[in-house]
Amino acid sequence: MNVTVIGAGYVGLVSAVCFADLGHNVVCIDVDARKIEMLKRGEVPIYEPGLSTLIERNVAAERLQFTLDMAQAVAHAQLQFIAVGTPPDEDGAADLQYVLQVADNIAQHMGRFTVIVNKSTVPVGTADRVADKVRARLAERGVSPAYAVVSNPEFLKEGAAIEDFMRPDRIVVGAMPTPRATALLS
Ligand SMILES: NC(=O)c1ccc[n+]([C@@H]2O[C@H](COP(=O)([O-])OP(=O)(O)OC[C@H]3O[C@@H](n4cnc5c(N)ncnc54)[C@H](O)[C@@H]3O)[C@@H](O)[C@H]2O)c1
Repeated sequence: MNVTVIGAGYVGLVSAVCFADLGHNVVCIDVDARKIEMLKRGEVPIYEPGLSTLIERNVAAERLQFTLDMAQAVAHAQLQFIAVGTPPDEDGAADLQYVLQVADNIAQHMGRFTVIVNKSTVPVGTADRVADKVRARLAERGVSPAYAVVSNPEFLKEGAAIEDFMRPDRIVVGAMPTPRATALLS
């Protein structure tokens, strides 16, 4: 299956690499040009045992690509995983600006049914805010492809992230009961 992962930080990079190693065709996008250039050269911007070998293997097998191009990333897959940071804001609450920016970016480019899956750690109600953002941008573009917003928080631990991703002790998925979304995710 084609999969896009948005954000090549700890969670995004590990998820992208592990999805590719499971056999999916993955595009991983970030706005940080330095990070993407490093990854394209085969350098790994984070320390995670085993990650470098998996990146090498899956890039060589052409199942894993890194890009800065959002149009390409959105066109690549109906499954769009958001894995950008949610640092605490001045009140200590998760700052959703990057998540909402990505939702807007996806909606700027999407042209067919798309499932937007949030892997970032976010508060209750975020899926509605993501859906509102997407709806507003699609309305502005005058297009109406269907979409679903799904929550799939990640619980990996740095240093054991590959093992945690590949053999999780729990997988949490929250979605409105949309058969097309659940069919793609299952
Ligand atoms: N690090 C962990 O162990 C861990 C574990 C579980 C959950 N989480 C959660 O996962 C989420 C991501 O955490 P992380 O540690 O991977 O963050 P991170 O800061 O390492 O990476 C976030 C990445 O997103 C990129 N980004 C920001 N805006 C973007 C945009 N508009 N388009 C594309 N890329 C963009 C940044 O350049 C950065 O590379 C957070 O919500 C965090 O709380 C983290």
